Amino acid sequence: MNALQLLGYIAAAVGLQILLAVAILIWRRDPNQSARLDTAVSPRSGAVAWEGLRGFRVALRTYEDPAQTQCSFTLAPVDGVRLPPFKPGQFLTFSLAVDGPDAPARVVRCYSMSDTPDPAQYRITVKRALAPPGKPDVPAGIASGWLHDQAKIGTLVDVRAPSGQFVFPTDDSAPPVFIAGGIGITPILSMLKAALADQPDRAAHLFYGVRNSRDHAFNATLSQLAEGHPGLVLHILYADPAPEDALGRDYDLPGFINLDLLKQTLPHGRHAFYICGPDPMMKALIPALLGWGVADADIHRESFGPQTAVPRPAASPVAGPALAIGFRRSGRTLDWAGRDANLLDFAERHSIAVEAGCRGGSCGTCETRLISGRVQYAAKPEFDITPGHCLLCVATPVTALELDA
Ligand SMILES: Cc1cc2nc3c(=O)[nH]c(=O)nc-3n(C[C@H](O)[C@H](O)[C@H](O)COP(=O)(O)OP(=O)(O)OC[C@H]3O[C@@H](n4cnc5c(N)ncnc54)[C@H](O)[C@@H]3O)c2cc1C
Ligand code: FES
Repeated sequence: MNALQLLGYIAAAVGLQILLAVAILIWRRDPNQSARLDTAVSPRSGAVAWEGLRGFRVALRTYEDPAQTQCSFTLAPVDGVRLPPFKPGQFLTFSLAVDGPDAPARVVRCYSMSDTPDPAQYRITVKRALAPPGKPDVPAGIASGWLHDQAKIGTLVDVRAPSGQFVFPTDDSAPPVFIAGGIGITPILSMLKAALADQPDRAAHLFYGVRNSRDHAFNATLSQLAEGHPGLVLHILYADPAPEDALGRDYDLPGFINLDLLKQTLPHGRHAFYICGPDPMMKALIPALLGWGVADADIHRESFGPQTAVPRPAASPVAGPALAIGFRRSGRTLDWAGRDANLLDFAERHSIAVEAGCRGGSCGTCETRLISGRVQYAAKPEFDITPGHCLLCVATPVTALELDA
């Protein structure tokens, strides 16, 4: 082989490599490719989904409040492929490998996304759940504690695709009123940012209640949003101002968000309410809004579910003979006598493997095919149940059942 031939071979090899590199780049950037990988758009939740769990790496951690009880985690997909968009307000379901003497090996928990969609990363913000006051023997929150203490930059977590019905529809013309209590700010912030990005001059109100400046999260972000959007009115309430907190500088009002405040502040006319906060806030505000004449359809709400580790009261004992509950795949039939709060607790107590996430009827993780029989729900679940299925975490049986579990 002469020198000229050798040069030709080298040039051809280099050319081939360049072609290959360009082809790989185009393949990775092709949105259709990621759509294939990310599988289908769920017609029920509207979320673009991947099947099962997907690996994410913690790319960034940021505390959002001075007390450092609320930490944001920015998560990048390990496969590096573009992420599907989510609807502002939706959440991710995590399966965390939490090892410890008192903890099960895996815990499943939901966390709302606290930012607007980005094809490269998602962001969640997690509040550390402490043991209830005066109960030092009770363990602190398992998943939130693990995320705060163990999830460093580079830590891997397994995540299900975005889901949830508590979303901001940009096509609703009614001025939005966002109401957040404590960590309930996470989906609300995502919605608020989306609402203002969609219509920068939009009239909107945010009522945000926290204890005081120490757990006042996203302070700078919210002030910047208000400065950049004259239509946005912020109402910051401190329930228990700290000695260093100044009314008018740090917060607008002392106390809790209540109907009188909304009546005094909001202009006349229809509004769409988006509410997320602790149970007492939701229990007080929602009936008050309905009583004020707000249509149920204009009150969009999410609660962060029952405290997952807390034992729940049993359902009503069954009058008469116990109901036979068949778990077809496990090959077992068990008697339901009303000892458990729901079918999920019942199945778990009998060591029947069923997947669960929110345990409050929001995420759909526990959805199970109902082969025969009837179930009931104390309140309509937030998750839109597939016909012929039931949500074990919020269902109790009305008749004997045959479940595909
Ligand atoms: C749709 C959805 C979205 C959510 N979004 C967010 C979010 O954006 N940010 C966020 O921080 N959270 C969010 N949550 C809540 C989150 O999923 C977890 O429930 C929360 O982090 C607590 O989980 P944990 O494992 O840390 O606590 P757990 O271990 O489940 O404990 C919860 C609480 O119970 C206490 N406890 C434990 N055992 C007992 C006992 N025997 N008796 C009495 N008390 C007990 C613990 O001390 C703790 O305070 C969301 C929930 C849902 C359903
Ligand atoms: S576990 Fe989320 S709906 Fe049942």
